[in-house]
Amino acid sequence: MKIPVAVPTQPYDVVVGRGVRREIPALIAERAPRARQVVVLVDEAIASQPWCDIEGLVIPIAGGESSKSLAHVEQVANDLSRRGVTRQDVLIAVGGGATTDFVGVVAALYQRGMPVINVPTTVAGMSDAAIGGKTGVNIAAGKNLLGTFTQPAGVLCDLDTLSTLPARDALAGEAEMVKCWLISQRPTAGYLAAAFEERLEHAIALKAQIVAADEREGSTRALLNYGHTLAHAIEAQFFEGVDAPRHGEAVSMGLVFADMLAARLGRCDSSRVEETREFLRHLNLPVTVPRHLDLNETMSFMYRDKKAHGGLTFVLTGSNGCEVVADINETLVRGCLETLMEESR
Ligand SMILES: NC(=O)c1ccc[n+]([C@@H]2O[C@H](COP(=O)([O-])OP(=O)(O)OC[C@H]3O[C@@H](n4cnc5c(N)ncnc54)[C@H](O)[C@@H]3O)[C@@H](O)[C@H]2O)c1
Ligand SMILES: [Zn+2]
Repeated sequence: MKIPVAVPTQPYDVVVGRGVRREIPALIAERAPRARQVVVLVDEAIASQPWCDIEGLVIPIAGGESSKSLAHVEQVANDLSRRGVTRQDVLIAVGGGATTDFVGVVAALYQRGMPVINVPTTVAGMSDAAIGGKTGVNIAAGKNLLGTFTQPAGVLCDLDTLSTLPARDALAGEAEMVKCWLISQRPTAGYLAAAFEERLEHAIALKAQIVAADEREGSTRALLNYGHTLAHAIEAQFFEGVDAPRHGEAVSMGLVFADMLAARLGRCDSSRVEETREFLRHLNLPVTVPRHLDLNETMSFMYRDKKAHGGLTFVLTGSNGCEVVADINETLVRGCLETLMEESR
């Protein structure tokens, strides 16, 4: 399956299927014909998996959320320089969303930019992170606050790689596909009846369509942040913690929160909140927030969200589907958080 991402700057395809990592040489011949070195930056946690057989200069790098730092970008850039890598060469990012986000920053900055091909190996990566050109690393002030819009030269979603993905990560990634399904206003029963490939294809196609229309998030692309304002605020408090929720788990909490807020603002019926909650619960995704969350810190992270310009801004459902809603009353937002924390006791 091939889904085009028709961004004006650099159109490319997302290819999905078993064994599609073998298309890398053909893609390089087409998109980076002058490359002399193929540098495979792979999450070290998966570098020795049997399917991890991509040929080139293989450099295992730290993966996971804590690897998304500017210090790590500098370390990898120094390594590339020592090995004589130039911007005519090509990077292959192999790993989950943390790895493609991180390698995206390296590719955007090293020698002012070089091509990167993404080979996402998680559900979150295939359905979301590896597509659309948002790259990013974290700083203490928040997640993904340093980054660029830099499109990959191609995305190869090799379903073989998912064979080793832990169940918790596979489930967490499901939350991004659920998000897309809800944005499209599709009935939840249809999601449960659909095969994995169909849910993945729907998420990729929706993201491709939205990104092509609004590459730099001037308008509609912000809709993909449905559930994410709270998710990022939760994740930011757990950067290094062993009990840190997965990104998708935080998104699941954020979806319930966003619908509750929408209902309290009169934008939707309270039955919508129950439907979303039941749907996520049925999938075994979390529907309450951690009870030890720091409420004030959560609010402060949400005020600093990238969508916001001063006030509290969320993507909320309504009679016209999802919309960006700005300047929401703080007491209302706190009230929803308190309810979800109370429910987790
Ligand atoms: N740029 C974007 O548009 C965008 C969109 C969504 C999410 N993200 C980012 O993506 C990240 C979350 O994605 P993720 O859940 O893929 O995170 P991740 O990269 O941290 O991967 C999750 C875990 O799975 C392991 N793993 C990866 N592939 C594996 C495989 N095939 N087999 C076994 N283990 C494997 C990793 O080592 C890691 O421990 C967050 O940093 C989030 O901010 C970015
Ligand atoms: Zn996400």
